[in-house]
Amino acid sequence: MKRSALSDLLRSIVIAALPVAAVGCCSDRDVEVEEQVDAFVAEADDGGVLPQAVCVSVCKPPLRETLKQVYGCHVTEATDAGITAVACDEHVEHCGSIFPVAGGRPPLGLRPRGAIVADDPAGAFFAQMAHVEAAAIDGFVELATALAVHGAPASLVDDARRAADDERRHARVAAAFARRFGAGALPPVEIDAVAAPSLETLALANAREGCVLETYGAVVTQWQSRTAGDRVVRRAFVNIARDELRHAELAFAVARWLHARLDAVARRRVRDLQRATADELARDVDRDSDPRLVAALGLPDRDAALGLVADLRARLWS
Ligand SMILES: [Fe+2]
Ligand SMILES: [Fe+2]
Repeated sequence: MKRSALSDLLRSIVIAALPVAAVGCCSDRDVEVEEQVDAFVAEADDGGVLPQAVCVSVCKPPLRETLKQVYGCHVTEATDAGITAVACDEHVEHCGSIFPVAGGRPPLGLRPRGAIVADDPAGAFFAQMAHVEAAAIDGFVELATALAVHGAPASLVDDARRAADDERRHARVAAAFARRFGAGALPPVEIDAVAAPSLETLALANAREGCVLETYGAVVTQWQSRTAGDRVVRRAFVNIARDELRHAELAFAVARWLHARLDAVARRRVRDLQRATADELARDVDRDSDPRLVAALGLPDRDAALGLVADLRARLWS
């Protein structure tokens, strides 16, 4: 599969799953939702506040939530053609259960993470994510070095180096969100020195961490970029998701290059590990978590996550 075709496939899996109805217990909350709208003309006061009748007609709930009440709205963007974006204050209801997940590409010698201190589950999520992203910087540097040592094409080596730079940005963003949501000091990334990986070791790590876990991470960040109720989080995940799609493409490009260099026995071991990792992931997402992470951070709830994993298994990991 071509690289761009893989990104299209991953996007289509997310889009196809978005309308899935949520089930389970319900919670309600006040939220500010920014709406991009077709340009329209309306009278706003000096602070950009629009009449209630206008707000009721343009405001919508975040994806997969039910709009209970519109408190008001104000203009956030206008052009010569009129108002093009509004921020809506509303009360919404969400029904469903959730699980937290963060993907990444850890280096081979990564030590287990230390404890995270956070009262807010969002703080805990971002502290965990910051650790995963920071570790992935070394993971991609390690991948770039190993690919160069084994004589991979310069384009793959360059893409792995670029991915390390992406992860540096993601780690900074996640650490900033961890602070915003009240997390304490982040646990350090500690890595033991390990021997340079053989082609098979590289292929096994790439299958597990890249083709399955980071690819799932790419799909989840896509999901978050479309469903996070917190506008700042949603915007951050638009950029992160774009990078993570590239990382998923890189994983499959590396897999193709390695496949041609492995014997039949090693190929079977790689394929078996990929399937076993997909099984593990399916078990891992089959659990509840904090509703706030679904609503504010846009993490898929259990049913949505199981659907995404099932689709990926059928189309990429079988
Ligand atoms: Fe990342
Ligand atoms: Fe990544």
